[in-house]
Amino acid sequence: MQQSMHLKSFELFAHDINDVDVKLLHALTIAVRWPHRQKDWEFLRRVGHGIVAVDGIGRVFGSAMWFPQGDDFASIGLVITTPRTQAQGGGRWLMAQVLERCGQRNLALNATHAAYPLYVSLGFTSEAVVYMRQGQTQHTLPPLPELEGELTALTGDQLAEIAALDARAFGANRAQLLASLSGVSSTVVLSRGGKIAGYSMCREFGRGHQIGPTIALNEQDAAHLTAAHLKALPGRFARVDTRERDGMFAEFLENSGLAVAETVTTMSKGRRFLNREANQPWVYGLAGHAVG
Ligand SMILES: CC(C)(COP(=O)(O)OP(=O)(O)OC[C@H]1O[C@@H](n2cnc3c(N)ncnc32)[C@H](O)[C@@H]1OP(=O)(O)O)[C@@H](O)C(=O)NCCC(=O)NCCS
Repeated sequence: MQQSMHLKSFELFAHDINDVDVKLLHALTIAVRWPHRQKDWEFLRRVGHGIVAVDGIGRVFGSAMWFPQGDDFASIGLVITTPRTQAQGGGRWLMAQVLERCGQRNLALNATHAAYPLYVSLGFTSEAVVYMRQGQTQHTLPPLPELEGELTALTGDQLAEIAALDARAFGANRAQLLASLSGVSSTVVLSRGGKIAGYSMCREFGRGHQIGPTIALNEQDAAHLTAAHLKALPGRFARVDTRERDGMFAEFLENSGLAVAETVTTMSKGRRFLNREANQPWVYGLAGHAVG
């Protein structure tokens, strides 16, 4: 594979994403109108790996990250090229670098409309639509059926149990990521019959707060877990990324002030990524587009 590429008159090299000033990464997301703050980039760099396309004088023209979870899986995200250099092969070159570094891992990503043809051409297949819901949260939330179980704040000794539940829903062990997320999130746990039946995290992200991951056994539980965070954010900007197109959970989000702003497509390469089964835990809210 080519170790550098010529893009217009620039020769670009792949550098480790940790070797550049976070301000340059922030400039990339601003250029493509994504909401990431410098703090969001710093978090993503702590929990994942990445490369940037850099020219001879240190200018950054693109980025791509991957987030290994468990032994045989990684999610890919933050694939960006600066608008003035798009459609000239930069995105394809960045993805070739990432695919080489991910080796034999099974892969998943959430493709924007702009990136979809690129991923199809690289052998990724579509699995589901993700609805990015966001907005100012309502001061009064829509009524919910009675909660079965009890909601409490996460304690440190519950992390292993929520990671085990999460692995059943997500399909890969992301215990390390969850430990890092719990350090920057408020986390609500749903217990029923002495066992953890669901959990939800909420952290500052972009323009406000991102609620997710939210893992639950059914949509009523998912709505209660999400409501626990929304109650703490009246009138504030919140975001939930979910694969629920309709049904009770989607309606609850809609009536809480979170309208669909955009959709992306979950795609995979290697083994199938999403495996939903009746009465099994499911990912109702994503941790984010990049980390799945
Ligand atoms: C998606 C993105 C990374 C692609 O980067 P890029 O540098 O334009 O990609 P490339 O030039 O390597 O093009 C890759 C493929 O995309 C498609 N493509 C790129 N520009 C296109 C255009 N203007 N019209 C139609 N297709 C286009 C083509 O299929 C192309 O394949 P080809 O090599 O056979 O021509 C870039 O558009 C971007 O940063 N977009 C905003 C952020 C984003 O959505 N990121 C994706 C996150 S999942």
